[in-house]
Amino acid sequence: SDKYAVVGNPIDHTKSPLIHLSFAKETGQNIDYAAIEAPIGGFSEVVDKFRREGGLGLNITAPFKLDAFAYCTDLKERARLAGAVNAMKFEVDRVTGENFDGVGLTNDITRNLGRLMKGRRVALLGAGGAARGVVLPFLEQGPTELVIVNRTVTKAEELGRQFKQYGPITAIGYSALADKKLGRFDLVVNATSASLRGELPPISPEVFGDDCLAYELLYGKGLTPFLRLARNAGVKRLADGVGMLVEQAAEAFVWWRGLRPDTGTTIKKLTVPLE
Ligand code: ATR
Repeated sequence: SDKYAVVGNPIDHTKSPLIHLSFAKETGQNIDYAAIEAPIGGFSEVVDKFRREGGLGLNITAPFKLDAFAYCTDLKERARLAGAVNAMKFEVDRVTGENFDGVGLTNDITRNLGRLMKGRRVALLGAGGAARGVVLPFLEQGPTELVIVNRTVTKAEELGRQFKQYGPITAIGYSALADKKLGRFDLVVNATSASLRGELPPISPEVFGDDCLAYELLYGKGLTPFLRLARNAGVKRLADGVGMLVEQAAEAFVWWRGLRPDTGTTIKKLTVPLE
């Protein structure tokens, strides 16, 4: 059967094989999907070997999205603008790179969680690799304002400069976010890595507007400090990145196999209640 895999380090907690095999079963496709741990600094050797063995496509997770970007011979526009690759397709001597993280997140927010971003105020916390990939897909949804907030303000400003031709984008630090004049937000997305260490970006409960959606990009960590702050502030819609994960996988599956799987049942299977 046709060979696919996800590459990362560490890789033991990945849900990608489960997701893709469930898509394959549902759409009647016969595929093989493995999880491969590449050594740090050894990404390209692992991909070379996978291709020699006839592999057709890879998903790429941390910390190899930039290595994957460098490896590709062809880049789709979304991957080029994100500066990172999360899916690869192999054809004879060509390697095409895509990035479905942003579209996965906006699909989850608009389709599964039923939130429009058009005409809404959006705050994006973080300016690292995870944040970079979602800036353009967010702007394409037509928010009135996208405010990028980062501890290191210069990194937020750099992202702001890079994407300012695509929409109304502002870059600030956490002290500026605390200023009441900035107002409240309809969507607050935590794209920092703070939750990995049980930390909380220094935000006040006042950032959350009425009927706000608080979205944590990480998944499977339950109520992170960010989500707990939001809940305690009275936010009713809390989400973690499980929907984004399944939606980006669905986009990769369509790209590789030409068939669109249903994401709802898979998201349900993987959802851990945020209580
Ligand atoms: P990733 O690929 O997960 O985005 P990264 O590129 O290392 O990882 O970026 C981590 C992001 O989380 C950065 O925006 C970082 O802020 P700085 O640029 O100022 O370092 C942010 N971050 C990490 N821990 C944080 C914390 N405790 N509070 C606020 N921001 C934090």
